[in-house]
Amino acid sequence: MKACIVFAHEGKESFCHAILERVTRSLQKQHVDFTVRDLYQMKFQPVFDAADMQNVSNGSASQDVATEQELISEADLLVMIYPVWWWSAPAILKGYIDRVFTNNFAFRYDSDGPVGLLANKQAIVLTTTRESEADMKASGLGDVVKKQIVDGTLAMIGYDVTYRHFAAVPYVDSADREQMLAEVEKIAASVHQPLGV
Ligand SMILES: Cc1cc2nc3c(=O)[nH]c(=O)nc-3n(C[C@H](O)[C@H](O)[C@H](O)COP(=O)(O)O)c2cc1C
Repeated sequence: MKACIVFAHEGKESFCHAILERVTRSLQKQHVDFTVRDLYQMKFQPVFDAADMQNVSNGSASQDVATEQELISEADLLVMIYPVWWWSAPAILKGYIDRVFTNNFAFRYDSDGPVGLLANKQAIVLTTTRESEADMKASGLGDVVKKQIVDGTLAMIGYDVTYRHFAAVPYVDSADREQMLAEVEKIAASVHQPLGV
C-alpha cells in the first residue's frame, strides 16, 4: 500500500497543516508507505505552458511532471489537502492538476466521452473554508468545491473519492477543532487498503 499526499498550503499554523499532521500520523500508525508533495515547499511550477502542451501532444512530459506522474501511478491512495480559495483550489494546486493529470496519463477520450485511466485507486480530499456550511448553502455554493474536485476531476479520471469539508475553521473552538481532526484520522484510517483487498 502506497499513498501520495498532495498538500497545498503555505502556512504551518494553518488548519490544513494540522490536517496534514493527522493524516501522516494515521498512515504511520498503519505502516502505510507515503510521500508528501508539499507544493509550496517544492516551489512547484503551476503554469501549464506551451512546452507542456507540446509534451502532451508528443506523449512526453517535462522532468517535474514526470516525477509527479510516477508518484501518482505508484500510489494506491491519493490524499489532497487544501484551503478553498475563491471557491476553488489554490492556484498552485490547480496548476498541479492541469500539468500532472494530463490527457493520456489520467484520462483519454473515446466516443462516449472521458475514460479515467487512474482506476482501482482511492482518493481522500480534505478542504477548509472560512465560511460556514449554512452560509455556503445559502449562497448556492454548498456543493461547488466537491463538484469540482470530485465529479469534475478525481472521479472522472478513475478515483474512488472520499470527500470531507471543514467549514468555518478560523472560528471553531478547541473542542470542535479536536473533533474535526479526530474525524480526519478516522477517515485516513478507513480507506487505506487497496480496493479488492
Ligand atoms: C486568496 C484567498 C481566497 C479565499 N477564498 C475563500 C472562499 O472563496 N471561501 C471561503 O470560505 N474562504 C476563503 N478564503 C479563506 C480560507 O479558505 C480560509 O482562511 C482557510 O480555509 C482556513 O484554513 P487554514 O487555517 O488551513 O488556512 C480565502 C483565503 C484566501 C487567502
